[in-house]
Formats: sequence, C-alpha cells, structure tokens
Amino acid sequence: MKDAFGSPQSLLILGGTSEIALATARRLVARRTRTVWLAGRPSPALEAAADHLRELGADARTVSFDALAPERHEEVLGKVFAEGDIDLVLLAFGVLGDQARAEEEPLAAVRVAQTNYTGAVCAGLVCAKELRAQGHGSLVVLSSVAGERARRANFVYGSSKAGLDAFAQGLGDALHGTGVHVLVVRPGFVRTKMTSGLKEAPLAADPEAVAEAVETGLRQRAEIVWVPGALRAVMAVLRHVPRGVFRRLPV
Ligand SMILES: NC(=O)c1ccc[n+]([C@@H]2O[C@H](COP(=O)([O-])OP(=O)(O)OC[C@H]3O[C@@H](n4cnc5c(N)ncnc54)[C@H](OP(=O)(O)O)[C@@H]3O)[C@@H](O)[C@H]2O)c1
Repeated sequence: MKDAFGSPQSLLILGGTSEIALATARRLVARRTRTVWLAGRPSPALEAAADHLRELGADARTVSFDALAPERHEEVLGKVFAEGDIDLVLLAFGVLGDQARAEEEPLAAVRVAQTNYTGAVCAGLVCAKELRAQGHGSLVVLSSVAGERARRANFVYGSSKAGLDAFAQGLGDALHGTGVHVLVVRPGFVRTKMTSGLKEAPLAADPEAVAEAVETGLRQRAEIVWVPGALRAVMAVLRHVPRGVFRRLPV
C-alpha cells in the first residue's frame, strides 16, 4: 500500500532494464519504495539492475517476462501479484526498430508492433485486472511524442506508440472510479541506449527528467504528462500542420 505520504511501497517494472524505468526506480527507492520487481528478458543487465537497486536499499527481484509471449503474461504477472500488492506498475518495454529495414522486411515491422502495441495491450490488461482486484494502484505507460503524429522517418514505431497511447487512455477511462489510476507519459527524445547513436532532437531530455515527471504526475494523479512539458505546446501546433508541409519538415 502507498504510505501516508502517498509514495508507492512496491513497484513492478515491465521492461526491467529500461534506462527510463530504472531512473524512475532509483528516484522512488530514494523516497519510500521498498519492493521492486524487474520483469524482463533474462540477461546479465537485468540482474545487474536488480543488484544496483539492492545496493540502494530496495528488495529487488527479477522475473522472466517477454512482451512477445503474451500467452504467458497472465501466468508470469499473476505470480508477482500473488506475492503481495503492487502500488505502481511501470510499463516501460519497447523497441525503436529500424524504419528502413521495416519497409524492406514487413515482419521486422510486425515485431515492433507486437512488442510496443499488442504486447502492451496484453500486459496492460493483465495488470489492470490485478490492480482492479486490489482496488488501488497506478499504471504508468511510457508512450511517446512519436505517437502524437506519425513521421515519415519512423512511422512504424510512431504508429505502434499511437496505438499504445490510445489504448492506455481508454484503459484509464475504464478504470476511472475503481481506485486505479493510469498515467500516460509522452517523452520526446530521451538520451538512453534506445537512442544512442541517433542525432539528438530538440528538447532532448535525460531519463532522470522523465522520472521526475512520473513522480510529479503520480502525486497529482495526472492522466497525461509530456517530457519536457514544453512539448505539449509544440505538438499542439505540429498536429495541425498540413500533411504536405509536415512531410517536408526535418522532424
Ligand atoms: N529513449 C527515448 O527517446 C524514448 C522516448 C519516448 C518514449 N520512449 C519509450 O520509453 C520506453 C523505455 O525506453 P528507454 O529509452 O528506457 O529504452 P531502453 O533502455 O532501450 O529500454 C527498452 C526496454 O524494453 C525492453 N524490451 C524490448 N523488447 C522486449 C520484449 N520483447 N520483452 C520484454 N522487454 C523488452 C528492453 O529489454 P532488453 O534488455 O531485454 O532488451 C528494455 O528493458 C520504451 O517504451 C520507449 O519506446 C523512449
């Protein structure tokens, strides 16, 4: 259960090696979060992330989870919830993919869509069911500004995030009044291993900035946060730029 200050005591991260998720975990562990489940594909990086959180004082555990194996989500995540209430689920897994390759090999695009969208739909619904049964908790979904308006340069990723974003908003409405809160997070370019080697976009942020926005959004029970906040105004304009112009913009 959240403590008297509203801080989550227990956290479940889906995508346990995500740099944004781990920055958020570090921030929450420095507050009051004690139990952290890192769900992800088994790897030395997943275990190292758990070790690091233990050094910070958390009771960190790992669990094998693959977004591309939705048929196993109920069993895998059900076991985590069976160990005790989860105050916060952070849905952080995702792949950027390679747009040029996706256009040549449609199955590569399918893999991006299945990870970012259908994998998240399944895991999100499984967690929502568990949170609803608890009667409390928050689900934070890492969407992206890329889903706000698909760009020619990465429309496979962008469309998967657009689907995820719409799904998460609808899920938030479905859970309204149940005690469960859904927060959709729309970061712009974040400096993590997902974007390493790419040309930095304007308003680029560090994972810690996303972590801070998540914490503030949770405290305010916000439904959507942009990181940085200025992106909200930028996208309000870009959303209405005519297609012919938008297509030629260097975004
Ligand atoms: N970085 C950005 O600019 C940015 C901007 C907006 C939104 N986002 C979103 O924020 C989220 C976190 O991104 P990040 O920047 O923290 O990237 P990251 O460090 O590369 O993390 C991505 C995570 O997704 C996991 N993952 C990928 N495929 C998976 C699968 N099939 N099953 C389970 N886990 C899988 C990775 O696990 P493995 O260790 O097993 O690969 C890793 O934990 C993503 O959803 C991303 O789309 C990122």
